[in-house]
Amino acid sequence: SSTAPVQLVLFGAAGDLAHRKLIPALYDLYREGHLPDHVQIIGADRKEMDDEGFREFACGAADTLGRFYPKTADAESWGSFAKRLAYVQGDVTDGETFDRLAEKLDAFAPKGSKPERVFYLSVAPFLVEPIGAGLANARLLRDAKRSRIVVEKPFGWDLASARDLDKMLLKTADESQIYRIDHYLGKETVQNILAFRFANALFEPVWDRRYIDHVQITVAETVGVEHRGGYYEQAGALRDMVQNHLLQLLCLVAMEPPVSFNADEVRNKKVEVLRAVRPITPEAVSDVAVRGQYGAGYVEGTAVPTYRTEPNVDPHSTTETYAALKLEVDNWRWHGVPFYLRTGKRMPRRVSEISIQFRPVPHRAFPAGADEAWRPNRLVLRIQPDEGIVLKFQAKRPGPNMLLHPVAMRFEYDEAYGEASPDAYETLLLDAIKGDATLFMRADQVEAAWKLVQPVLDAWGGTIPPEFPNYTSGTWGPAAAERLLAQDGRSWIEPL
Ligand code: BG6
Repeated sequence: SSTAPVQLVLFGAAGDLAHRKLIPALYDLYREGHLPDHVQIIGADRKEMDDEGFREFACGAADTLGRFYPKTADAESWGSFAKRLAYVQGDVTDGETFDRLAEKLDAFAPKGSKPERVFYLSVAPFLVEPIGAGLANARLLRDAKRSRIVVEKPFGWDLASARDLDKMLLKTADESQIYRIDHYLGKETVQNILAFRFANALFEPVWDRRYIDHVQITVAETVGVEHRGGYYEQAGALRDMVQNHLLQLLCLVAMEPPVSFNADEVRNKKVEVLRAVRPITPEAVSDVAVRGQYGAGYVEGTAVPTYRTEPNVDPHSTTETYAALKLEVDNWRWHGVPFYLRTGKRMPRRVSEISIQFRPVPHRAFPAGADEAWRPNRLVLRIQPDEGIVLKFQAKRPGPNMLLHPVAMRFEYDEAYGEASPDAYETLLLDAIKGDATLFMRADQVEAAWKLVQPVLDAWGGTIPPEFPNYTSGTWGPAAAERLLAQDGRSWIEPL
């Protein structure tokens, strides 16, 4: 680990994400020796707590939710970590909070040092603006090389608000200081898409319209809205998952090979994909987009309630908990290859995968009946759980007759590496601390993604779906999603 001291300020330190992900990730990084020697973590939130109270809160999170759980109490490493924690209580809409924060940062910093500062905004979107302004007024962003802001998704609420937010932030900071996070980009399996595509000679030559029939991207969750009704009611699946996580996956699958792994080079190649996606016209929304909301049902054997009776959800809610899109990438490589994206809560299984389906062979030479169980070649990038890559192809079934049968070649992370991958947040926090923006989103990417989904947001915002709830919890979504593919003579592939 390096010696430059770092102060990481966590806004929303008493919140859900900090508790579930950020604090455990920081502690795990610390235990593994990845954090700089002189690192300090300063929590900031409205909740009344002192430094000691924050340490207790953090200890509880780190102990039960970290990667090494269950673990035996490790008093020594916790003790040395806890010394690096401090807390500032305050309202971020009040400028005085930032003066106190600045004082605390100076007082807490190792004597005579000039630490780098990372301000992590794990807060509701409407608080990003006051925090940006507060930091700027307290002169905490002045040094562009030594101070960075990390902003959680959703970045803005639609195209217009994302643009406003960018304008505001760019008044107080340089683009190079702004780290827009999408935690999917920190997942090992997601990063591996680039390794798979660009570190191997075998796949890239067939990675285009000549060989690929279509691509399916599925991000299915078994959880419902949980205790996040207040946020989710305003967001819905399109804003919560598609605009960010699913479109980022699309970019990684569809991008052109980068010249280098320079942050801007990779991000340029990704944004080009979003720019090439055929814009969805208002008239086309109903042909290419499907929404759903879950009704009561059983998920993994447990009875679960209908969305509209979840806590903090309107009993007449029109919020979608499922979204599917058909996108066309209008460029040389992908012309005519549809990308089908879907995500939903309360699906039968938690599974995220990208399935690349290849074209059939041009001529089937086998005797009639040989290929009854014939399936096209398929490459599945399994993002979670059971991380891995599977290639499905045809083989001859042993026996006197020529009978073809689909089989699989598998690469499994578990088997290959035998150790748990770091959590996405560990990777991204470390990158933010080191100042590497490659895995973060640039303003133009975020805006391009909003631009793409905006017509769907507009259409869905303006009409009330009479049929909600329209899928039973524990199923793969509404019937209309099947029709979306059926109209192209295809169907959703049951995830592995
Ligand atoms: C978050 C969404 O960004 O991603 C949540 O806000 C969702 O609604 C979560 O549950 C899924 O993340 P993961 O890493 O569990 O796939």
